[in-house]
Amino acid sequence: MSLIVFGCRQNESDETDERQVMKHHDLRPFYHFTPPKNWMNDPNGMVYSDGTYHLFYQYYPNGVNWGPMHWAHATSTDLFHWEDKGTKLYPDELGYIFSGSAVVDKNNTAGFKSNANAPLVAIFTHHQNFGGLQQQSLAFSTDKGTTWVKYSGNPVLKNPGITDFRDPKVIWYEPMNKWIMVLAAGNKIKIYSSQNLKDWNFESDFGENQGYHGGVWECPDLFELTDSKGARKWALLVSIGGGESSEPNGGSSTQYFIGSFNGKTFTAENQEVLWADYGVDNYAGVSWSDIPAKDGQRIFMGWMSNWVYAGSTPTIGWRGAMTVAREVKLAETNGKYKLHFPLLDELNTLKDAQHTSTASTPLNGLDLNNNEIVGTGSYLVEMEIDATLTDDFEISMGNELEKMIISYSKANTEFVVDRSNSGITDFSPMFKRPIKCKFIPQSSKIFLQLLVDKSSLEIFINKGEKVMTTLFFPKYEYRFLKVHSNSGKDFLRTYTISALNKSIIRQ
Ligand code: FRU
Repeated sequence: MSLIVFGCRQNESDETDERQVMKHHDLRPFYHFTPPKNWMNDPNGMVYSDGTYHLFYQYYPNGVNWGPMHWAHATSTDLFHWEDKGTKLYPDELGYIFSGSAVVDKNNTAGFKSNANAPLVAIFTHHQNFGGLQQQSLAFSTDKGTTWVKYSGNPVLKNPGITDFRDPKVIWYEPMNKWIMVLAAGNKIKIYSSQNLKDWNFESDFGENQGYHGGVWECPDLFELTDSKGARKWALLVSIGGGESSEPNGGSSTQYFIGSFNGKTFTAENQEVLWADYGVDNYAGVSWSDIPAKDGQRIFMGWMSNWVYAGSTPTIGWRGAMTVAREVKLAETNGKYKLHFPLLDELNTLKDAQHTSTASTPLNGLDLNNNEIVGTGSYLVEMEIDATLTDDFEISMGNELEKMIISYSKANTEFVVDRSNSGITDFSPMFKRPIKCKFIPQSSKIFLQLLVDKSSLEIFINKGEKVMTTLFFPKYEYRFLKVHSNSGKDFLRTYTISALNKSIIRQ
């Protein structure tokens, strides 16, 4: 017997209703950093020191929406297991604590050293609540990041009359033994230099007529990279706070420039606009400071959301996650340099050997149904596709009611992520829009890595040649993963799926 309630047919017994027996889905990512509670946006003050990766973040401790900004702190020794350390920088009479960076002041240039530890110095934007005046300030720690003191001479860089004047990223420029600061100033980047982190000299402006200008420029980063043949180039990352019609796929995005830097001026050599990520959920990302030169690694992390809907995402009690940490590599094709953002090898340590399945021969598709690895919601799929054996393919993951679809079309030379039916989508019209990424394979094979973590999907195409980071919010656990093509040929040369379920430490 069934009852009619407000026009809906409901079964008396839960068991006979598919929707009821499906398990509700936990939206909190497992191996991505999320705040223990309340609102988080940009990663800040990312610095490596004495075996510890420090991550600060824009934090509002009193609610799940953006509010007066603080810096909260987390640490990790492997970039995947994070320990939250609580709020470290609070708003004061100069204003809220906006985004910025941190460095190890090895030579004690600022004079904050008081014991054997090299001081950690944070350089951040003070944002005045009334009037919006933005200026740059310092805070320091002489106990390895545990406690922080704001510098009594703040601000160290006063506002010269510019409305948007924020997000300082400071680097040590070895050839001239000085600090360089890149700062977002409306529609350009301003470059300053300093001997002591306290007195800053203006060097140059970059970008007013270059790159993409569909929104205010924010959160820059500047670093040098060497490619596999020994070529050295400088990269400048710039986040853009665009609106719904902004490129490449709407809302917040990050572009980069490749070129040279002489301690004073940055000169870009790329003609086309270059994007760090084609997904819509990777913003305000910058790289870690002070990673030892012998590692040679440049490691990046972004905020996994988009200002168009960041305040409306349907998580409860917490809001905001970081992307997974990625390497940044310089790569050259036909004389043009680009950045690749591959996954870190350390991710492999999260793989659960007991919950890994792999194919031993090429396949014409894949149909993992009611699969327990997919059911964990936190896994990595790696697959090699022979692009000569199929013109199109589709990867889908979901349950009876909801799914994410990732498709590739050779005719359109593009990947499309369709999250229109992925679960809760009604909080923003933009969330349902297809997300596109042009991709022309340079060889017969396409190597794909799909990194899933409860409510996030990061797609790495050919080891980070292109990346698409997207959020999705299922109501119920996803249980299937399918790979399909109409070709009938064995286009799926290899695949492996591994649960990534090593525990995360929370305070
Ligand atoms: C980028 C940003 C920064 C600013 C911060 C405020 O997402 O707008 O420019 O410093 O967020 O929370």
